[in-house]
Amino acid sequence: MKTNEILENIRTRHSIRSYNEKQVSKEDLQMILEAGTYAPNGMGLRTWHFSAIQNAQKLEELNEQIKRAFTKSNNSFEKERGHDQSYCCYYHAPTLIIVSNEPTYWWSGMDCACAIENMYLAAHSLGIGACWINQLGITSNDPEVRKFISSLGVPDNHRVYGCLALGYAKENLPLKEKKIKEGIINIVE
Ligand SMILES: Cc1cc2nc3c(=O)[nH]c(=O)nc-3n(C[C@H](O)[C@H](O)[C@H](O)COP(=O)(O)O)c2cc1C
Repeated sequence: MKTNEILENIRTRHSIRSYNEKQVSKEDLQMILEAGTYAPNGMGLRTWHFSAIQNAQKLEELNEQIKRAFTKSNNSFEKERGHDQSYCCYYHAPTLIIVSNEPTYWWSGMDCACAIENMYLAAHSLGIGACWINQLGITSNDPEVRKFISSLGVPDNHRVYGCLALGYAKENLPLKEKKIKEGIINIVE
């Protein structure tokens, strides 16, 4: 089967949920963010915004705000997480990129997903682990969470569609083989 560097990078990428303390360098972070901005986006409008947080205290505070919002949820799973002392939605990664967009367009979330995947792949190509983090997407309209993310640079007219945790994997776990699920592809000739 034909392969190349890009296809190998796509094939071997997987989500990392355990990080060591090594911070992602400014240079690598910049490259990853740039990769996000090169993603396809509806009508080429590029209305998205990327807020990269590398401050451990601010990330802990963000996690606390998200948990506080979860305690108010009607969803029992979220409520439980909200009260769980050890719960950290971003797995203590040293960097978190918040990806937001104007909710005006029906494709706003898709733009963000394309950008996040570009950043996932860019990070992997640099030996940096990444994981999509959804919890801020669920809670960004909570007034206290909103106030806090505004202070982190998320535009007030934006909705958070996802976040990307970044850092170095704590351990090099063996690569889980990804098998193509049966019946999800068909080709018409
Ligand atoms: C829309 C979306 C939301 C996700 N949210 C989370 C999340 O909140 N926490 C998490 O650990 N992983 C999250 N993931 C990662 C998926 O669990 C992961 O991509 C999937 O299990 C496939 O594994 P892989 O990324 O290693 O290929 C999310 C992925 C997507 C695309």
